[in-house]
Amino acid sequence: MVGKCDLVSVLGAILVLTIFHNPIIVVYAGEGVPEVALFTFGDSYYDAGNKVFLSTNKNPPQTKWPFGKSRDDPNGKFSDGHIVPDFIGDFMSIPNGIPPALKPGVDLSRGASFAVADASILGAPAESMTLNQQVNRFRSMKSTWTDDYIEKSLFMIYIGTEDYLNFTKNNPTADASAQQAFVVSVTNRLKNDIGLLYSLGASKFMVQMLAPLGCLPISRQEYKTGNECYEPLNNLAKQHNEKIGPILNEFAKKPNSGFQFTVFDFYNAIIRRTQRHLNYRFYVANSSCCGVGTHNAYGCGMGNVHSKLCEYQRAYLFFDGRHNTEKAQEEIAHLIYGADPNVIQPMTVRELIVYPAGVNMLEFWEPNKKNSIRRRRPASVFNFGLSAY
Ligand SMILES: *[C@@H]1O[C@H](CO)[C@@H](O)[C@H](O)[C@H]1NC(C)=O
Ligand SMILES: *[C@@H]1O[C@H](CO)[C@@H](O)[C@H](O)[C@H]1NC(C)=O
Repeated sequence: MVGKCDLVSVLGAILVLTIFHNPIIVVYAGEGVPEVALFTFGDSYYDAGNKVFLSTNKNPPQTKWPFGKSRDDPNGKFSDGHIVPDFIGDFMSIPNGIPPALKPGVDLSRGASFAVADASILGAPAESMTLNQQVNRFRSMKSTWTDDYIEKSLFMIYIGTEDYLNFTKNNPTADASAQQAFVVSVTNRLKNDIGLLYSLGASKFMVQMLAPLGCLPISRQEYKTGNECYEPLNNLAKQHNEKIGPILNEFAKKPNSGFQFTVFDFYNAIIRRTQRHLNYRFYVANSSCCGVGTHNAYGCGMGNVHSKLCEYQRAYLFFDGRHNTEKAQEEIAHLIYGADPNVIQPMTVRELIVYPAGVNMLEFWEPNKKNSIRRRRPASVFNFGLSAY
């Protein structure tokens, strides 16, 4: 029989041996995570300050108070403080987070943000970049990092909001087949761009599904839905999201591809916080903290707008009309890094980072993972089949 103390010392010895045999492992806050880089692509959600370098306005709202309010630091990010990639960077023990790739002279040793506000997958966004242009920017800077380092590093992607908001605005009467056709053209292009990143050596991807776009305060305000979400936009997001997992499975199932990924179900994380906001300690989930209009959704931080600012931003799910508060972004980052298959599958980002590079995954994305997980939980009066995540 092995006693508890013996077991502990055996485990300790294994840990020590592992550390000495694998010099790239650093132990931080009790966790062994390899010291790799973080690269982000997409729109304002992941923009670490790139937009400023493409704007004619050199002091856009996101560089001014009340953006950055929670940290006294308006720095071009669309939040009252940190954004999701900042928290993920913290968990990966990247000092000071990753810099905007477009900013001259920054330290790129632990990665960079290529994401820029107003980015889209299709079209030609003004004073911004498409995902394809971001990937090409990465290509032009690629020699900064070794191939081995790129292969081990994490690539996070969040994009598509701009495409669907634009489509809905320009085609208010689009029927189901026109919507489907648009979703197919967006997701085909997304697949292409991910394939391009992969061909440049990236192999670990975290793709964040789209939020329920019709529940954003800006959508409720523009489509005058009051306390309801605007369903046509939610439907587009759902159709888009359904295609993500299968696209990535296809890459990952190719023999010897070494393509690894995980998908974060942002859609349902936001739906749960919208429908049962008090359970998640958000007092307000249907309008923003900062802005003007029926849902305070417009003009936060704009010089000529007398925007309202809520008293306590951490009680809000949304800071401005489109973006979550730092409080919500911190929660989301925790879900991405360490939650269960209810919200991120086939693995968490922490697991993705430590997964040996270059090998194929053994598990893939499944459309109804959530339900299969719920079925295994014992029924009880406290379990109404609702996820706590
Ligand atoms: C928005 O839609 C218009 C009309 O379809 C298109 O010309 C434009 O490129 C789109 N913009 C973006 C950013 O997708
Ligand atoms: C937001 O929800 C609250 C209830 O939580 C409701 O009283 C309020 O009218 C809603 N706001 C809007 C703009 O619909």
